[in-house]
Amino acid sequence: MKDVLISEAKKALKNAYAPYSYFKVGAAVLMKSGKIYTGTNVENASYGATVCAERVAIFKAISEGESEILEIAVVTETEEPSPPCGICRQVIAEFSDDAFVFLANTKGDIIETSLSKLLPMAFTKKDLKNK
Ligand code: THU
Repeated sequence: MKDVLISEAKKALKNAYAPYSYFKVGAAVLMKSGKIYTGTNVENASYGATVCAERVAIFKAISEGESEILEIAVVTETEEPSPPCGICRQVIAEFSDDAFVFLANTKGDIIETSLSKLLPMAFTKKDLKNK
């Protein structure tokens, strides 16, 4: 699904709303149901209200009744593929066991990694049960 997911994220990137940073990001998540959801970063004049592309895609999926992320692709227009921010890693961890993560740029470079590599020793719901 890697190529499809990256191409969906690349298509989504065109809708990125980034009038402040000019840093456009597109994301696509493959859920356990087999469905793909896309997202872009959505910035705000009150900068802290900005939401990353990964979280927009994930929240779209979860709010449509999905439960588990299998794979996620992130596309940027950068020289090298860009990694997801820490908050997005934490949000991916909430909804996946160990998702495949594909980082790509619009030139076609791809880095394949996984959530456990990006967020080792993640704090998750299992830790809350460990009282
Ligand atoms: N951004 C994302 O969409 N995903 C990330 O993982 C890193 C950062 C966005 C947020 C903001 O609109 C812009 O990139 C610059 O930080």
